[in-house]
Amino acid sequence: MAVLHGDNPTHALVMVGLPARGKTYVARKIMRYLNWLGHKTRLFNVGNYRREHIGSLQAHAFFDPENPEGVRQRTQMALMALDDMVSWFTQGGEVAIYDATNSTHERRALIQERCERENVRVIFIESICDEATVEANVRATKLDSPDYVGIDPDLAVADFRARIEHYARVYEPVDESEGSYIKLIDVGRQVNVNRIHGYLASRLVSFLVNIHNVSRPIWLTRHGQAEYNVVGRIGGNTHLSAMGTKYAQNLQKFYDDRIAPAGDVEVWTSTLVRTHETAAILGRQTLQWRALNEVEAGMCDGLTYPEIKERYPEEWRARSRDKLGYRYPQGESYMDVIQRVEPVVLELERQKGPILVISHQAVLRAIYGYLTGREPEQIPHLSIPLHTVLELTPNAYGFAEQRFPLGPDLPAHAGPSS
Ligand code: SIN
Repeated sequence: MAVLHGDNPTHALVMVGLPARGKTYVARKIMRYLNWLGHKTRLFNVGNYRREHIGSLQAHAFFDPENPEGVRQRTQMALMALDDMVSWFTQGGEVAIYDATNSTHERRALIQERCERENVRVIFIESICDEATVEANVRATKLDSPDYVGIDPDLAVADFRARIEHYARVYEPVDESEGSYIKLIDVGRQVNVNRIHGYLASRLVSFLVNIHNVSRPIWLTRHGQAEYNVVGRIGGNTHLSAMGTKYAQNLQKFYDDRIAPAGDVEVWTSTLVRTHETAAILGRQTLQWRALNEVEAGMCDGLTYPEIKERYPEEWRARSRDKLGYRYPQGESYMDVIQRVEPVVLELERQKGPILVISHQAVLRAIYGYLTGREPEQIPHLSIPLHTVLELTPNAYGFAEQRFPLGPDLPAHAGPSS
């Protein structure tokens, strides 16, 4: 996968923070975002190394800084993850997220020194949370953590609190002498940065200022069937067909039954007629984004696929070889679409209320690919059928999904696949 900008792409994003500060939640979100933008990104979670090599059932005493055997084993796991991270860079990795407490200057200096030797830029990402967030995370831990499977919830919470206390006794916040850092306070409420330079680091800061941990559904739908869909032409700016108008009516009912009860819903459309006509019947004010317009097909706009194959066989073959990178002459590629919709994705992250997005196949593939953590190569092939609403609700691992085919059903050949 090509890197999008000329900046040195090899970065180690080193998480810092006491347990229950949402580090893994943030680390996973960063991984999803950077992979989606085309940067090969991988997570190295030291807790997973410990669970795999030592075992998940470690009572809090294992984490006591006064326990020499615990310290020895934990250091061993941290070094193992660091070795794997460094060797991953030699295999073409661009961004590694080193997810652990990394709670002392000494540990962070060791990581920094190792990365410098490998010419990898380090950015510390320190997560600091208020007591209410910590409390919620501690309670969630007893339900979710692989460390407490089968353990009585009260015992699990007490043990986890004792573990946090062990780390808190030796915790040293990141300071300016340690180089580049981003301090994330209450999962995005406040972000402090130090020595942040370059394209990737600044993208990361804009991402982190927008994220939060408030759960709310996002609904995605294509417009109803349009006149060009009926005759298999791509692009254009045509009106809805009779079937498409019927879909808009079905969507209105779905909106009243399922979407409106979720709260103050924002409705986003592209600037193209078929999305406006689909949204109009909802009787809501909409926000129109040009960034939500369908992939620009350039000189192929208005043609059917058989016509493109016949008139431009070279273009047809190039697109079949690399659907992600292929750019229509005078038009766009899927990679262009991903970059174009990035501001929409940041706004989706920033919004805390429910949102209905009415857009187009290629654009929704890009957005859905982001929300569900797909590799860019998968994006041009994701299934986003007409006349179907996708409901995505964030959880600790990404988004849970439900699909609602609202009809009317269309013949299998209806509409081109962009
Ligand atoms: C763990 O073993 O769960 C994490 C180790 C660490 O981050 O300090």
